[in-house]
Amino acid sequence: MTRAFYVTTPIYYVNAEPHIGQTYATAVVDTLARYHRLAGDETFFLTGTDEHGEKVAEVAEKRGVAPKEVADQYAKAFRSTWDTLGFSYDRFIRTTDPDHIATVQTILQKVYDAGEIYFQEYEGLYCIGCERFLTERDMQDGLCRDHERAPEQRKESNYFFRITRHFAWLADHIEKHPDFIRPEGFRNEALAMLHDESGLGDLCISRPKDRLAWGIELPFDRDYVCYVWFDALINYLTAIGYPAGPNFERLWKGAEHVIGKDIVKPHAIFWPILLRVIGVPLYLHLNVHGYWTVDERKVSKSLGNKIDPLVMKQRYGFEAFRYFLLRHMVFGLDSSFTEEGLVARVNADLANNLGNLLSRTLNMTARYAGGQVPEPGPPGDLEIEIAEAAPQVAEKVDRHLRRCQVSRALEAIFEFLDAVNRYLETRAPWQAAKAGTAESDRLVATTLYTSCEALRVTALLIAPFLPETAPMILERIGAPGALETARLPDDAARWGVLRPGAPTKKGEALFPRIEPLERDG
Ligand code: MSP
Repeated sequence: MTRAFYVTTPIYYVNAEPHIGQTYATAVVDTLARYHRLAGDETFFLTGTDEHGEKVAEVAEKRGVAPKEVADQYAKAFRSTWDTLGFSYDRFIRTTDPDHIATVQTILQKVYDAGEIYFQEYEGLYCIGCERFLTERDMQDGLCRDHERAPEQRKESNYFFRITRHFAWLADHIEKHPDFIRPEGFRNEALAMLHDESGLGDLCISRPKDRLAWGIELPFDRDYVCYVWFDALINYLTAIGYPAGPNFERLWKGAEHVIGKDIVKPHAIFWPILLRVIGVPLYLHLNVHGYWTVDERKVSKSLGNKIDPLVMKQRYGFEAFRYFLLRHMVFGLDSSFTEEGLVARVNADLANNLGNLLSRTLNMTARYAGGQVPEPGPPGDLEIEIAEAAPQVAEKVDRHLRRCQVSRALEAIFEFLDAVNRYLETRAPWQAAKAGTAESDRLVATTLYTSCEALRVTALLIAPFLPETAPMILERIGAPGALETARLPDDAARWGVLRPGAPTKKGEALFPRIEPLERDG
């Protein structure tokens, strides 16, 4: 039976160009989506932009233009950047899309009719960066901890969503489903929020229009617009046709979100409660990643401090940049980005480990086997070891990716490549070929077959991470188009699939060695 896999990135604020953190999240989701497509799951990958709220209104006011103009500009920038980087999203949603506005209003009315919304005067300190009233623990030295700016004192009558009454069942759900929020540290964080009586109050879900007109009007009070977070979360439902679209129920059963650690609260607390109140089952998993930090001292002035994904693509190729992001950050932990780190990692893993194995294998296949996948002889112990490692690495990649542990999946693939490189060194077919006996020829053929087949397994498993490189490898080792019909993990777990006699092709280095960066201090 086909399973559904519905995966989302956060929707991005339209107040600046895409940065490294957003590129990372989208690359993770792209990788998961590509894996699940290859696994035969009905896959839907959603990304898009979060366009309402004060942040955008503020930018527009400074520039003296309408908020929609600012939103259009950055939504276009995100979309075209994602297209240039080759992300395989199924929908790019904008919260200004008419179907989204209609869905938000339907849901607001439903929550209101259910008696879960009340009206009250409220006074407190409001941070525009967070788009919410702050509690004491959100502040340090009078400033918002996250945004390092002074909040404003505000007094307003607003609509509130009764979330506190739902904390008990939500805590229970999180306790009973250990992988609902993962990795574990963020699950504990969510539980702590729910157990801390003084921490979270009911959620203010409106803004008076006379203060902020840039938002979705409340269907039950035209003097107010909807709070941007309430509007934003609903994008995950709009995108697949809630409530009555033909694919909605099927896809929603496989829903999971990928977010950064600063937006756990809305996703882990507000969102499940809203889903329950409107009668939609909870999502399966909330996958939370850490932060990229860029150590300014280590990034030279001439290269610039801003990590712009398009500049990285131009400088290193997007597959190399993407590889570094996915491999270097352990999902859930923080990582620091440096170009030196990227260069070292890409040279070691892609140029050396993978690239050299491919070029050596292809060169020797050209030289000793007439440029065709050779017919292997009976396997020895070393060949059996490699053949047995294939189903193991396929299983590991499957398991890690289903838990959103992208770096672990890559680690498993590169451990397999290490083993294949060691195998080739031990067999040393370039030595064996010198003997020129029937036996040594058979050994060379067996070794090269094993190496080609290991590259086939690698190419299939690495395809979700390096979608442009993988088909090139397959083409060169005599299996062009293999990805079009492949099923993962099974086809990577199988050994002996390459057809002896299939033509192989030498070619340019996949990842030419990058020269270490010159520093200007
Ligand atoms: N619009 C909200 C999300 C609404 S989802 C219903 C938002 N947008 S954002 O553009 O500010 O951030 C989007 C994502 O980028 C968040 O998951 C955030 O954690 C992530 N990152 C922002 N800076 C980051 C790093 N330096 N490193 C990694 N990710 C970071 O929040």
